[in-house]
Amino acid sequence: MSNRSMFAVVTRSEPRPMPDSMAILSALAVPVLVLAYDNTFRFVNQAAEQFLGLSSSQLLAMRMSDLLTPDSPLFALLAQVRDADVTISDHAMSFDSPRLRKHSITVQGSPLHEESGCVVLVMQDASAARTLDRQLTFRSAARSVTGMAAILAHEVKNPLSGIRGAAQLLEASVSEADQELTVLIREEADRIRDLVERMEIFGEKPIERGPVNIHRVLERVRLLAQAGFAARIPVREIYDPSLPSVFGNRDQLVQVILNLVKNAAEAIASGGSLANGEIILITAYQHGMRLAISGTDQRMHLPLVVTVRDNGPGIPDDIMPHLFDPFVTSKPTGSGLGLALVAKIISDHGGLVEVDSRPGRTEFRLHLPMLPDDPADAL
Ligand SMILES: Nc1ncnc2c1ncn2[C@@H]1O[C@H](COP(=O)(O)OP(=O)(O)OP(=O)(O)O)[C@@H](O)[C@H]1O
Ligand SMILES: [Mg+2]
Repeated sequence: MSNRSMFAVVTRSEPRPMPDSMAILSALAVPVLVLAYDNTFRFVNQAAEQFLGLSSSQLLAMRMSDLLTPDSPLFALLAQVRDADVTISDHAMSFDSPRLRKHSITVQGSPLHEESGCVVLVMQDASAARTLDRQLTFRSAARSVTGMAAILAHEVKNPLSGIRGAAQLLEASVSEADQELTVLIREEADRIRDLVERMEIFGEKPIERGPVNIHRVLERVRLLAQAGFAARIPVREIYDPSLPSVFGNRDQLVQVILNLVKNAAEAIASGGSLANGEIILITAYQHGMRLAISGTDQRMHLPLVVTVRDNGPGIPDDIMPHLFDPFVTSKPTGSGLGLALVAKIISDHGGLVEVDSRPGRTEFRLHLPMLPDDPADAL
């Protein structure tokens, strides 16, 4: 997931004619198969033969229903691809039949427009599973500070406000020289309070959710950014105006995007690329994104994608594996809580965060749920 395409190998030689597409498909290490309208196999590449444990000549005489039980979620996906005529992907699909037993498979189905009802399926059990694993890790990382956050909030805030009040009282009666010290006490007390307030969000309180217009959230963050920390960095917006409401908590989503935009601005400034630095905010509707809800057969639909992209120097390699852990920072004055907070809030929303980073292009993508028909049905 990290630093994708950084290591592309370019070799130079005389141009040769392209191999035909079947040869390319066969060479792919990813299982690719084509099903006809009645779910008979039309094509399988070598990786698909291995994945399904049968040779291509055996498979071409069979239907998918010979391998899977009729209640397999794959058939629902196939029907959806055909009905909606769009690409659908499903993370963490399980095949649990006597002939095929596999778990945590990402399946992507796309309509093949040349032939009505034909669907191309791509199956993968590594990359997306890794995304999910990471997401769960982030979640547990966020959890690990939960208890501490609660203690801090209770035990630190009250005495702190006492200290602050006492310093304020003293300020009126001490000499001018000593006033400097009382101001220092007050300001430092404020700094600790801010930190504690940021930690408080890690508590396990259930969030209040409703319809949120994500463009208003982005607009608010843009205004805050341009009035403060990103005053000299242009912010470009590429929005899908027809995007439906997110099912979420507005204030928390402001906090999430604010943290991402602040990191983007800080990265651009640190890389010395302020002159041509740019932050891009993108919203889009993605049909296929679904996520299995652990411990159930239910799948959460996450069609709303909000992207924060910058052209800064990229996330340092040594930070990448621990990116969402609390207190991980490369900044002299950073607290390393920004992304831990992002992970916690998005996971409370039932959403997913994806990251891609390389020098000159870093992108955080939030996959968020839509308002359900009946909000009581949602997580
Ligand atoms: N857009 C980005 N480009 C490059 N590096 C990034 C980007 N976003 C995050 N990082 C890296 O991830 C680290 C962790 O980010 P995080 O927001 O959690 O903490 P922080 O920004 O250091 O501190 P805080 O947000 O608490 O002030 C950063 O210190 C930075 O090294
Ligand atoms: Mg930050």
